[in-house]
Amino acid sequence: MSQPLIDKIEHHLQEAFQSLGLETSLGRVVSSSQEGYHFQCNGAFKGAKIKGCSPLTLAQDLQQRLSSLETFADISISVPGFINIIVHDACLAEYGNLIFQDKRLGIPFNDVKQKLIVDFGGINIAKAMHVGHLRSSIIGESLQRIARFLGDEVVSDIHLGDWGLPIGMLIEEFRLAYPEWPYFKDNFDKDLFKKSPVKIEQLETLYPQAATRCKEEEARDIARKATADLQSGHPGYRALWQHFRQVSVEDIKRQFKPLDINFDLWLGESSVNDIISPLLEKFKQQNIAKESDGAIIIEVAKEEDKKPMPPLILVTSDNSITYGMTDLATIAQRSEEFNPKYILYVVDNRQSLHFEQVFRAAQRTKINQDAHLEHIAFGTLNGTDGKPFKTRSGGVMKLQDLLEAAIKKAQERLDEAELGKDISSQEQQEIAQLVAVAAIKFSDLSIPRLSDYIFDLDKFVSFQGKTGPYLLYTAVRIKSLLAKAKEQGLIPGTITIETEKQRDIILSVVQLSRILKISYEERAPHHLCEYAYTLAQKFSTFYQTCPILSNPNVTQAASWLALAKLTLQNLEQVLFLLGIKIPERM
Ligand code: ARG
Repeated sequence: MSQPLIDKIEHHLQEAFQSLGLETSLGRVVSSSQEGYHFQCNGAFKGAKIKGCSPLTLAQDLQQRLSSLETFADISISVPGFINIIVHDACLAEYGNLIFQDKRLGIPFNDVKQKLIVDFGGINIAKAMHVGHLRSSIIGESLQRIARFLGDEVVSDIHLGDWGLPIGMLIEEFRLAYPEWPYFKDNFDKDLFKKSPVKIEQLETLYPQAATRCKEEEARDIARKATADLQSGHPGYRALWQHFRQVSVEDIKRQFKPLDINFDLWLGESSVNDIISPLLEKFKQQNIAKESDGAIIIEVAKEEDKKPMPPLILVTSDNSITYGMTDLATIAQRSEEFNPKYILYVVDNRQSLHFEQVFRAAQRTKINQDAHLEHIAFGTLNGTDGKPFKTRSGGVMKLQDLLEAAIKKAQERLDEAELGKDISSQEQQEIAQLVAVAAIKFSDLSIPRLSDYIFDLDKFVSFQGKTGPYLLYTAVRIKSLLAKAKEQGLIPGTITIETEKQRDIILSVVQLSRILKISYEERAPHHLCEYAYTLAQKFSTFYQTCPILSNPNVTQAASWLALAKLTLQNLEQVLFLLGIKIPERM
């Protein structure tokens, strides 16, 4: 058996349909909705329409063909034509043992190695990262892991906001604060000033200051001018901008390290500066870009549109390059350099219109070549008041503060549960951090990504319920069980099925290949969260009734132990894909 069991089962169903002259797609198998059955197939309804018979007759025909197969313990029909499937325990156990030996057997690898670009982060340099960046990074990280795991070649890009008006505003703010700095002098020589005088703290104070100042039209104009100068190559501004960028990137890396969020590329809006003019020229020649009230735009509305679809503005009437233009240029650059099959944009659903416009413009100008462009939108993280999450004082919560609060809470909960008592305080801290990150990531990923959700640290950092910490606790518990078994000289044996509880675990394990596939196809890690939680619960129930270490029947204990190890293996696999690390102990 070299394919996931569920595929094998489905294959039998497909053959049965085919032998009756019907298409194989009718043999789709899903989990059973009825107690006592493992799977079901609903293809007899459609098949009966094609054949012109009743679903019940067709289902009975199929039943006859399937009943003799070794895989199935029972095939039964329920009116008006559902096919219910019970798989042989021997077959389930065999699959469990196979996966136990080689966990890659249960992975539905993509047949074709695809190149995928994941664009996530939505972070702007110089601006403090806040909780708004959390979802994009957590979802993006998980999606890149899932895709790689299934065999895609993935390139991830943080795509920093590092080139627009905010940078001009900041340059101007620095000029006012440090007029003596060389960057503002006409005779600036970049070779003389390589070392950055810019500190992250300065960015953190001057950025909001600039934002306030630029509420006035006059200040805005000056900032616009500085932006234009930067973009057209002012040597002092370019040098200063480099410093902003470098300092910010270091800070972002530092903050993302505990969260284990990783990017292959640290490109941004600035990275396409040099190809903007030639592209604009090309779009004009294609007769796609045109002038409108002093701006340059691309029409993207279609006749069948139900909602208004404004044109994508490429250059504004005061001659600045827009976000839309840099996104188009980035598509061109990525297509050129990587020729990706897909480009995923993991960005807040409030930018849906922007991406719709950009994707349509890309299609019109054909710059995306073969790449499918997908906006992986997500909902907002809200406070208990239902509005976007804020600190108690009403400000935006910084990412770093959020993580610190979560770590503190994790430490409290670990103390309450009397976990980690005999562990050094250094390790305790590391564990608290892992628990905090698991809490934040799991709560975020377990919500279907388009839904908004309410940020509730108390609920997330709990060792009970559908939480990251509960899963860590379960995994660590199995680890410690395995260690104790080893001390006793008990080693994992062959998995067998004697009770419902054991069967339940294997039935979960059987599901994993499907869950992986839909998580990948729908770009939806919440299926994996659901899977991990169900598996963990099933294990807890099993372990309560089957105390492994005290079982005098050694063969049975060894079989149970193997099942525990298989559970751990699966949990590890799934938590890895969610970007969650498991501590050694706690
Ligand atoms: N910097 C943008 C923002 O904060 C998000 C960038 C997302 N990626 C992209 N290619 N547009 O709104």
